[in-house]
Amino acid sequence: MSITLSTPFELNGLQLRNRIVMPPMCQYSAENNNGQPTDWHDVHYVSRAVGGAGLIVIEMTDIEPDGRISEQCLGLWSDVQIPAFARMIERMKRHGAKVGIQIAHAGRKSNCAQVPVSSSDVAFSPAYKQPRALSTDETKRMVELFRDAVARAVQAGVDTVQLHGAHGYLIHQFHSPSINKRTDEYGSDDPTRFGVEIIQAARSVLPSHIPLQMRVSAVDYGEGGYDLAYGIELCRKYQSAGVELLDISTGGGVATSPVMLDVYPGYQLPMARAVKEATGLPVIAVGLLDEPKLALAAVANGDCDLVAVGRGMLRDPYWALHAEQATGSEAKPPKPYLRGY
Ligand SMILES: Cc1cc2nc3c(=O)[nH]c(=O)nc-3n(C[C@H](O)[C@H](O)[C@H](O)COP(=O)(O)O)c2cc1C
Repeated sequence: MSITLSTPFELNGLQLRNRIVMPPMCQYSAENNNGQPTDWHDVHYVSRAVGGAGLIVIEMTDIEPDGRISEQCLGLWSDVQIPAFARMIERMKRHGAKVGIQIAHAGRKSNCAQVPVSSSDVAFSPAYKQPRALSTDETKRMVELFRDAVARAVQAGVDTVQLHGAHGYLIHQFHSPSINKRTDEYGSDDPTRFGVEIIQAARSVLPSHIPLQMRVSAVDYGEGGYDLAYGIELCRKYQSAGVELLDISTGGGVATSPVMLDVYPGYQLPMARAVKEATGLPVIAVGLLDEPKLALAAVANGDCDLVAVGRGMLRDPYWALHAEQATGSEAKPPKPYLRGY
């Protein structure tokens, strides 16, 4: 029988009620510079759990204050931040969703660091601050900060952790050959070393039943970008290091103009399929998949194992229930809402 949007999914100790994922989306709504979820986050995430998403990946959550895009970004750089996440995560789970969190560092894309850090001292674009290159010791320390943030996420109760290796943020700034101009052990001889060490460090603090995911830009557009063959090579390296689920996106490493991007429904699906075939790992596909029949086709055709819908879920918190209904699956709304269905 073919897979539908409502088919449960299992990976290691992670059991999802369906194939529908809410991908990480920054809300820029933390207050007082403290990186902690607020009432806004609570309403935002818990309502998508009520709305039927199988997995919700909490937005980019940063490993140190200078790793944030803005002062309103979330962070897990201190134990003080854990209880606010734990309260929200518990409420999300109460409504049947499983919860992931994206652990990240913005590197040279930070707008709030006085002097952002990166693999090299090259700015993303003239509109961004000039970064300085991390020393070798600082790079090793950064791996430890990723590990500590992952450990805090586990304490807060997540079911899975996603490392942000896409969209031109710090891990991407290391594995992109056009950005990484280093000559040390994290340099061009092995630009994936940074990501690999983070994966190994994350695994060392993750209980064995919690799957580790990574979001990777399978292709980086524009001059100095990389192609799909290179993106697949990255995914294979990260798989060997311990990643069990890949979230396949594209772009972000190189400043591009919108007209350079050929964007249409399902435009990233061929990349998800290629990575799935090359690695044999389950993949999440994302990118203009909010037309329910297209999302169904993506999982039923085996392009991907899970579909993530971002902007569609910003417009409609109940996207998951509505998409299941629109594609002939049995939507299972919460009991108080049954008469609406
Ligand atoms: C408001 C907003 C914030 C986002 N923040 C993040 C983020 O924190 N981490 C990330 O990897 N992608 C982020 N993205 C990208 C989404 O996760 C997703 O990949 C993208 O929106 C494409 O999917 P869609 O066409 O279903 O919206 C963000 C997108 C939006 C619209």
